[in-house]
Amino acid sequence: MGRIEALLAAMTLAEKIGQLNMPASHQAVTGPGARRELEEGVRSGQVGNVLNLWGAGEVQALQRLAVEHSRLRIPLLVGLDVVHGHRTIFPVPLAEAGLFDPDIWQQTARAAAAEAAADGVSLTFAPMVDVARDPRWGRMVESPGEDPWVASAFAAAKTRGFQGTDLRATSSIAATVKHLSGYGAVTAGREYASVELSERTLHEVHLPPFAAAVAAGVAAVMPAFIDVAGVPMTANAALLQGWLRGRHAFEGVVISDYNAIAELRIHGVAADTAAAAALALSAGVDIDMASEAYVEGLPAALERGLVSAAQLDASVSRVLRLKERLGLFDDPYRGAGTGGPDFPIRELARQTARRAIVLLTHRGGVLPLSTELQHIAMIGPLAAAAKEMLGPWAAAGRPEETVSILEGLKAALPNCRIETSDPDARGIPAALESCRAAQLVILCLGEEAAMSGEAASRADLGLPGKQRELAEAVLDLGKPVIALLTSGRPLIVPWLFERAAAVLATWFLGSEAGHAIADVLTGKVSPTGKLTVTWPRHLGQVPIFYGQRPGGRPPRSGERLSSSYLDIPVTPQFHFAHGLSYSSFVLSDLRCTPTAVKMAETIEVSVSVRNASGRAGEATVFLFVRDPLASISRALLELKGVSRSALEPGESKRIQWQLPIAAFAFIGVDLDRALEPGRFELYAGESADPAGLLRCDIEVMG
Ligand code: NOJ
Repeated sequence: MGRIEALLAAMTLAEKIGQLNMPASHQAVTGPGARRELEEGVRSGQVGNVLNLWGAGEVQALQRLAVEHSRLRIPLLVGLDVVHGHRTIFPVPLAEAGLFDPDIWQQTARAAAAEAAADGVSLTFAPMVDVARDPRWGRMVESPGEDPWVASAFAAAKTRGFQGTDLRATSSIAATVKHLSGYGAVTAGREYASVELSERTLHEVHLPPFAAAVAAGVAAVMPAFIDVAGVPMTANAALLQGWLRGRHAFEGVVISDYNAIAELRIHGVAADTAAAAALALSAGVDIDMASEAYVEGLPAALERGLVSAAQLDASVSRVLRLKERLGLFDDPYRGAGTGGPDFPIRELARQTARRAIVLLTHRGGVLPLSTELQHIAMIGPLAAAAKEMLGPWAAAGRPEETVSILEGLKAALPNCRIETSDPDARGIPAALESCRAAQLVILCLGEEAAMSGEAASRADLGLPGKQRELAEAVLDLGKPVIALLTSGRPLIVPWLFERAAAVLATWFLGSEAGHAIADVLTGKVSPTGKLTVTWPRHLGQVPIFYGQRPGGRPPRSGERLSSSYLDIPVTPQFHFAHGLSYSSFVLSDLRCTPTAVKMAETIEVSVSVRNASGRAGEATVFLFVRDPLASISRALLELKGVSRSALEPGESKRIQWQLPIAAFAFIGVDLDRALEPGRFELYAGESADPAGLLRCDIEVMG
C-alpha cells in the first residue's frame, strides 16, 4: 500500500474533512468572517491547510504541531496570495503583461516563488488570468488584460515560473490558476455581481488561459466566486468535472475561493450548509477556503446520501498527492528560513518595472528630460507615496523597502533641485507656488493602491478627489508638464492627454517603482511598455476591447445608421497594444508564404521593421488575423503573435512568425472547435489601431 492509501485507510471522517479544510491565519485579512483558532485545529487534525500565513518562524511553529503533535502527522499546505512578488514586489500583472515577454513573466514568478518558499509558503493563489474588459472592475489590475492569447501565454509562463521544473525543489511553490471563469465580465463592472456570458464567449475568451495553465502543469485551480447565468462556479460540475477534469485531464486540486462554499446559500442554490458542501464537493471542489462548510456540512451530507465516501476519498487523495508532490512529507519545512533567490532580485524588479511603463502621449520632445534641467517641481499625492507603489496585492512587501517616485528621481538627478509640495497637506496654492520657479513640472496623479483590486469597483474612472483641480491649475501655469498616472486600470482623463506635454501610465510598479520611473524619464532606457487593455475615452464606452465582431452595421464615420454614439466618438483613447517610445519605427513589406495552404500546414508571416529615428530602441510588432467569412461572425482582429526587436538607429530587421493554420480555429456552431477553409487576412502593426496595420491575405483550402 502506498503512503496515500495507507493514510486514507487510517483516517477518521473528521481527519479526512480536515485535509479539505483551509482556514485563514490572522496575519492578513483577505476575506470575511470570523477566524478560527488554528493551533487546536491543527493538533486535532481538523485543519489540514492554512492560508495567509508566512514567515519561517510562524510557519515552522504551526507545521511542527501538524507533523509532531497531530495523530497522523500529515504536513500542512501553506497558501498565500503571492501575486506579483513576495517580499520584493514586481509590477502588478496588468503592467507586467505589457512587457509581452514570457521569459520575464516566468523569471519574476520564479523569483517570487523562491522568496515565498524561504518564508514557508508552499502554494500561491496565482496566476490570476481573468480576461478583463471593463475597467470599472477593480480586479483588472490583477489580470493580464483583455486578450485571451496574452492571458494564455501569461498563464503558462507564470505556472512554469512558480512551479519550476520540480515542485519538490525548495525554491518552487505550487501555483493556483484563478478564477475559473468569466469573473472579468461581472455585470456593470460591479464586484461579485452575477455574470451573463454566452457559452461561446466563455469557451473562446475566458477559458483558454485556464487550459494553458493546465497544459503547463498547474497544481491547483480556483473557481470564481461569481455565478454565470445562475450557476455559481463553486457548484459548476459541468465546468469543474466535465471541462477541467474530463476534457483537460486536470489531476490537481481545486480550491474554493474565500468563503465561497458557504456563500452558495446566499446565491440561493443551497438550503443549508450540508447542501452547500455537497454541491461543492460534487462539483469537484477539494479544498474549502475559510468557510468551514466542509467541516460543518459534510458529515450531514454523507448521512443524507448527498455525497459518497468515495467522492470524499477522491478529494482527500488529491490533497495528499499535492503535499507529496511538494515533498512536504519528507521535508515539511521545505527549507523555510534558508535560501531565497540566488540572483539580484531587486535588479530584476527594476528592469521589469521600467519596461512596464507605457508612454501614452508625448509632444514637444519634453522627454527624455534634458540634462540641463536645474529645477523641477514634483507635485501630487503619489509623488512621495512609497507604500502605494506596492499595489493591492503586496503579500510580504514592505513600504520601507520601496522606492517612491520622488526618491527615484532625486537619486537619478543629484544635481537638479527637485521641489515637492503635498497638495493634500498644504493645499493647491502652496503646490502652485512650488511650480512657479521650476522649469518643468512632474504631476504624480492617480489612484491609491486600495482603489483597485478586490472589492474596488469604481463607477467614475476620473482622478479621485481634487486631483483634476490641482492638475488643471498646474497646467494653467503654462510650464511643460509631464503627468505620471499611478493606477490599476485605465483612467479616463482626456483633458490631461490633450494638455500635458507627456503622460505615462506607471501603474503600480512595485518595490523599485521610483528608480524604474527615473530610468525612463531620464532616458537611461526608452519606454517599451504596451497596453494590454484598450483605453476608453469615455466611461460610456465600457466594456471596450479590440476583438469585437463587426455587426451588420459597423461604425462608419458620418453615417447615422451605424454602430456608434451620438455624443462621443466610437474610437478609444488608446488602442490595445499602444505604447510610444523615444524611437520611431516603420513597418513595411508584410508577406505570407505560401499564400495558398492546406489546413494541416503552417505559414510563414514576415515583415520588415526599421528604426527611423536617431535613437536605439525596441520595436514591438503584433500579428493579428481576421477571418472575414465563417459560419460564426468572427472578431475584427485576433492576436496571434508578438515579436520584439532591439534596433540601432537606422537599422532594419525582418521579423518572422511560423503560424499553424490550426491557430485559426474557433468555437463553431455546435460549440466545438472548428476550422473552416477560405480567405484569411493577416495584419501586422505596432498596435491594434486599424490605421497602422499592414495586410496580406492567404487562402486556406478544404
Ligand atoms: C479572495 C480572492 O478572490 C482570491 O483571489 C484570493 O486568492 C483569496 N481571497 C485569498 O486571499
